Amino acid sequence: MAQGRVVFIGAGPGDPDLITVKGRKALASADVVLFTDSLVSEDLVAAAKPGAEIHRSAGMDLEAQEAIFVAAFQAGKTVARVHTGDPSVFGATQEQVEILKRHGIPFEVIPGVSSFQAASAALKKEFTIPEVTQTVILTRAEGRTPMPDGEKMADLARHQATLCIYLSAGLAKKVQAECLQGGYPPETPCAVVYKVSWPDEKLYSCTLATLAETVAKEKVEKHALLIVSPALKDGHKTKSKLYDKTFTHGYRKGES
Ligand SMILES: C[S@@+](CC[C@H](N)C(=O)[O-])C[C@H]1O[C@@H](n2cnc3c(N)ncnc32)[C@H](O)[C@@H]1O
Repeated sequence: MAQGRVVFIGAGPGDPDLITVKGRKALASADVVLFTDSLVSEDLVAAAKPGAEIHRSAGMDLEAQEAIFVAAFQAGKTVARVHTGDPSVFGATQEQVEILKRHGIPFEVIPGVSSFQAASAALKKEFTIPEVTQTVILTRAEGRTPMPDGEKMADLARHQATLCIYLSAGLAKKVQAECLQGGYPPETPCAVVYKVSWPDEKLYSCTLATLAETVAKEKVEKHALLIVSPALKDGHKTKSKLYDKTFTHGYRKGES
């Protein structure tokens, strides 16, 4: 009998073409598919092999998922555990990994395109601009999940970097207030990115002063990223050293 195992697969932000080739192959060969049905497209799950057992995780607790992993392992089956975006970011994968380790179930992780990356592509904006910001912070607002010390929104805002805020559309007022408190100027450009790469994707541009108002006016309640960043401003003129004529690096000698 083949050895059972679990493959965590990052499905990407929604568009079924934004999964990796490796992820799609793993999905197509799995015997059991357990997918996050709140944000993984059914069109992607259609790539599973005929006869694969399909389970939706949105309505399940961790114990129900454990039962699926264990039953598949005992039957020598491979489970594709398909997560939205990339499993490294708010994927709740660590708690599943602990279960697999406890049962001695082998597993691997295949990365995916996170929604912040898809948001950059949809907005056509780089998030790191030389001399403006060189840092991207992936975070969430404090709601029912407490934030560790030093990671409150106002603490992070002090860096004036690119803040990509997950899971927080319902907390936009708080995000706005704490970003202002942390020192971002009210005119800092912001984006509200709803269901990026899905057919019903919506992109809204605003400033920090109008962030909460924009979220409320456009009725964005979930499946959205809030992005606060000086990098979103149009027309930055600063350039990287990478293609600077006078800059020497490992692949090119600069002109003196
Ligand atoms: C449970 S987290 C999963 C994040 C995912 N692992 C990732 O890398 O994007 C769900 C949150 O991710 C963000 N998100 C996921 N997919 C999105 C999309 N297509 N458009 C906008 N935000 C998305 C939203 O903030 C949503 O509330």
